[in-house]
Amino acid sequence: MNVLQWAIDPRGHSVPIHIAWDLIQVAFVSAVAFLIVHAAYIRFFAGEKQWSGTTAPDVVAAIPERVPRHTLVARAFHWLMAASMLTLLFTAFLPKVGVEFDWVTLHWIAGTVLAASVVFHIIHASFWLDFWAIWPDQTDILDAIRRLRRFFGQAVPAPRRFAKYPLENKGFHGAVIAAGLSVIATGVFMMFRVRTIFFTRNPYLFTDVTWGWMYVLHGLAGVGLIALVIIHVYFGVRPEKRPITKSMIFGWMSRDFVLKEHDPARWTVTAAAVRRPREEEALRDAS
Ligand code: HEM
Repeated sequence: MNVLQWAIDPRGHSVPIHIAWDLIQVAFVSAVAFLIVHAAYIRFFAGEKQWSGTTAPDVVAAIPERVPRHTLVARAFHWLMAASMLTLLFTAFLPKVGVEFDWVTLHWIAGTVLAASVVFHIIHASFWLDFWAIWPDQTDILDAIRRLRRFFGQAVPAPRRFAKYPLENKGFHGAVIAAGLSVIATGVFMMFRVRTIFFTRNPYLFTDVTWGWMYVLHGLAGVGLIALVIIHVYFGVRPEKRPITKSMIFGWMSRDFVLKEHDPARWTVTAAAVRRPREEEALRDAS
């Protein structure tokens, strides 16, 4: 199977024009195969999760019944990014699998919404949220090795409970960053090839071969996102992950779930600690 489609330019050179559209089916089938294997593993083989470490009763007592997890702004932008991402996937790939419609305008509009919300998300996460919460730390790596060794039957201590985000979620976020920034960066340039409200159309901005590779990167990252989105939605609806999904709707997690899967020593969730720094300052000034 050819991964790319090629054409001959006016000078007789072979240039890539875009990915082979069969990759759409490859991404779809691979993601569905992954989730079938995962669901079968959880159903028939995986035991009860085991953790090491306990939480002192006074720390437990200080944790609120509802632990704030995502601010309203963070949730709103998550769902805006999700809606634009789904629109992009459907407008890009439905025409390629035979559902014909005028997709380009809808596509670049959704692309602009995604690009703008990602820029906002980066600024918001860097200055208002805990930027480092989403990147793997040393404990994550050590625990991943422990989990793997226990999977192979070795007698090593159980992993610690997670910080705010499990390692798997951090890994997923990293993959979405790579694919998302690739489609956004290439997509912004590709807007010069079509008529938009932003700039005058200029298909001669790059050489044919540069445009070709740009379309290839856009397409490869795009089909990667088919698989990533399917897997993300699958985990979002799995019963044991629903408290995480609910927190992206309502903003909080129950204390029981937090204590079961999260370590308050790694994710400080006491009522005092969750107060926003500015509130703290206001309280201090007032007293
Ligand atoms: C989930 C994210 C995205 C996916 C899956 C996706 C997928 C695609 C695909 C498969 C094509 C056809 C490319 C080809 O013919 O080789 C395309 C074209 C295009 N994309 Fe995207 N894209 C995404 C995000 C974006 C973003 C963020 C922008 C803008 C910021 C954008 C702008 C465009 C434009 C302008 C075209 C039309 C190019 C043309 O017809 O010449 N895309 N996209």
